[in-house]
Amino acid sequence: MANEVLKAIRERRSVLRFAEEPVPEDKLELILEAGRWAPSYANSQPWKFIVVRDPEKKRKLGELVERIVLGSRGRVAVSGRGLGDPPLVIVVVVDPLRDPRHFLEAGAVATQNMALAAHSLGLASYWAGVYELGGGRHSVERQVKKILAIPRELRVVALLPIGVPAYQADSERVELASLVAQDQYPEKA
Ligand SMILES: Cc1cc2nc3c(=O)[nH]c(=O)nc-3n(C[C@H](O)[C@H](O)[C@H](O)COP(=O)(O)O)c2cc1C
Repeated sequence: MANEVLKAIRERRSVLRFAEEPVPEDKLELILEAGRWAPSYANSQPWKFIVVRDPEKKRKLGELVERIVLGSRGRVAVSGRGLGDPPLVIVVVVDPLRDPRHFLEAGAVATQNMALAAHSLGLASYWAGVYELGGGRHSVERQVKKILAIPRELRVVALLPIGVPAYQADSERVELASLVAQDQYPEKA
């Protein structure tokens, strides 16, 4: 039986282009609140959420997102899409000193909470994955930090552009039966 939470999870989609309409402040606050209430290891809450509205900073972030390398099942491509002209971008930053074990998962759940909240409010988003394992000098993540004056020791988990969707997106998932196993990992995975 579907309820509002299940419906939001099921119907949220990544939207890569946004209408010109602004995001109302009350909705933005609800989205950020959804991030605040995410779970984290020992309730460490290692995150900061930077709301970027400055057009020049958004443009620079968009250029960086175009450089993100996307890969799956042997196919690798450069994103090339930018941020899709959103009215604002929420940048999810985590502090590994506050949570050395699970800072990444903490940032991830906060990001997803906010993406779901945005969807539930009639807005859309997509997760631009800027986190890079090494996070070296030439990485997209390092460039994002420079633009937003984020200290070197912190990590950037995601850029979440938020806005009114400019189109209706769709995507598919593999069948549940091929994902679920009983009592042990399946022999033929
Ligand atoms: C960790 C993570 C990183 C992602 N990074 C990107 C990205 O850099 N560029 C992009 O276009 N989409 C990115 N996405 C969005 C995925 O492409 C998208 O979630 C997936 O194709 C499924 O589509 P849906 O979200 O519409 O269901 C990312 C999603 C996740 C969870």
